[in-house]
Amino acid sequence: MRRILIAGNWKMHKGVGEAVELVDELLSIFSSPPSCEVAVMPPFTALHPVAGRLKGSFVKLGAQNVYWEDQGAFTGEISPSMLREIGCHYAIVGHSERRHIFGEPDQWVAKKAVALQKVGIIPIICVGERLEEREAGDAEGVVASQLEGSTQGVSWDPETLPVIAYEPVWAIGTGKTATPEIAQEMHVFIRGWLSENEGDGVASRVRILYGGSVKPENARGLLAQRDIDGALVGGASLKAQSFAGIIREGEDL
Ligand code: 13P
Repeated sequence: MRRILIAGNWKMHKGVGEAVELVDELLSIFSSPPSCEVAVMPPFTALHPVAGRLKGSFVKLGAQNVYWEDQGAFTGEISPSMLREIGCHYAIVGHSERRHIFGEPDQWVAKKAVALQKVGIIPIICVGERLEEREAGDAEGVVASQLEGSTQGVSWDPETLPVIAYEPVWAIGTGKTATPEIAQEMHVFIRGWLSENEGDGVASRVRILYGGSVKPENARGLLAQRDIDGALVGGASLKAQSFAGIIREGEDL
């Protein structure tokens, strides 16, 4: 049984004041915890204050990125143990913006995932093809190669079992959501890849999230698919009402 996870990737939005306001509003909408799991990924500067507000609540904390070393002369970077110390439960690795804007290769994604697992943080490993790759009929090939490279050395033990997020680049921030059928097809492919490479047990336990223009209006259709185990939400997670709307759609599935 895979529990639905609704995660909000805030990207480079919200200073400390706005971040705290957003989580306070989100928490005030729910008089009791929803049946699905919920997480928010604020920018680094807001992680600590947001962690304070989330203490004892149903919302888990996540980071958007990490470096794989524990400490040292790595100007501008943040380590897994720093994230652990302030209570991060998840961290995103290999988001397409990091891959394409900052040139992060698969090997880095894998090293980050492994380093997170060593301190008990669950990596959310992102994969997804670009429009031209889909149009060339290469979407599955691209995703398979990202999975292969980005999971080198990763542990599939239950304690820090990775989450995979499928985010087709053409659907991110464009308002163009993949149809539930297109998303489900790729999720089946990813689960098949996991089954072939890591075994049926792992494949049946790993949660595969969909990301790309998820909104309250299209969330149910996506989340109702058998192999879609949650959503990684960008824009619609920046407003408490719309994020809460998506969380509601993830209940009782
Ligand atoms: P949008 O929901 O804004 O399309 O962003 C998706 C995403 O990249 C989440 O990580």
